Amino acid sequence: MSKTRIAFIGAGNMAASLIGGLRAKGLEAAQIRASDPGEETRARVSAEHGIEVFADNADAIQGADVIVLAVKPQAMKAVCEAIRPSLKPEQLVVSIAAGITCASMNNWLGAQPIVRCMPNTPALLRQGVSGLFATAQVSAEQRQQAQELLSAVGVALWLAEEQQLDAVTAVSGSGPAYFFLLIEAMTAAGVKLGLPADIAAQLTLQTALGAAHMAVSSDVDAAELRRRVTSPAGTTEAAIKSFQANGFEALVEKALGAAAHRSAEMAEQLGR
Ligand SMILES: NC(=O)c1ccc[n+]([C@@H]2O[C@H](COP(=O)([O-])OP(=O)(O)OC[C@H]3O[C@@H](n4cnc5c(N)ncnc54)[C@H](OP(=O)(O)O)[C@@H]3O)[C@@H](O)[C@H]2O)c1
Repeated sequence: MSKTRIAFIGAGNMAASLIGGLRAKGLEAAQIRASDPGEETRARVSAEHGIEVFADNADAIQGADVIVLAVKPQAMKAVCEAIRPSLKPEQLVVSIAAGITCASMNNWLGAQPIVRCMPNTPALLRQGVSGLFATAQVSAEQRQQAQELLSAVGVALWLAEEQQLDAVTAVSGSGPAYFFLLIEAMTAAGVKLGLPADIAAQLTLQTALGAAHMAVSSDVDAAELRRRVTSPAGTTEAAIKSFQANGFEALVEKALGAAAHRSAEMAEQLGR
């Protein structure tokens, strides 16, 4: 990426986070440009990251090796159709818009090399995880560029099939909210068991953080970690047995299935 020039179309939350991550990795401000219709948004990213900003998307993409589409899914069709006449065949288009397929983008942009990504909200803290899919037109060098771009805000994982992005959406895209739900429920249960609300919240949050750190840094899987902290006839076993007797795994499978189904449905609607 030492010479790669990157243009961001849309300079909102996700773009600002990616730009911050790239700058922290050592990219020069001169390698990065962004366009956005909002004057305040442009002023903010320009002041924060020292990059050149544009009101016109076509101006921003001139000379870029990689064009990152970081607008809302609903804006994608109009944005793609408007930049189409200014695109060069060798420019890589990276989309982070949820639910917009490569086929839709190729319809709107022409036969451009495309990497479609599904990041998640913790990317805003550079703690995200993204699934990436590349079309056949994407070169090995361009794959590397997309990999380095998304790695600036977390972990980037390649997928063999585009359809798997619906599953990525269900697992990690929507995933932070499932953990928030568990945090809410555990905090409420702690209060019902007699704890002050702020203590119940801190105990839950720190436990979530500690468990995540353990799971990430351990060389054994989550099932083994769970076994290790579950003594026979102990308190943890009582809770786990209660979860499982009430269909916990089936509940999670059904919930993620609903998210994946909705992701495919939205792709169908947004791609028209
Ligand atoms: N945030 C996340 O955690 C997350 C996770 C996964 C995927 N994504 C995807 O990332 C994309 C961006 O999300 P975000 O959270 O960064 O949204 P955001 O903060 O709303 O940023 C989008 C920016 O694009 C600008 N914009 C609107 N129309 C435009 C146009 N025609 N040309 C150029 N810029 C335009 C918007 O300006 P206005 O506000 O003035 O309209 C806004 O500043 C979305 O497609 C979303 O699906 C986000």
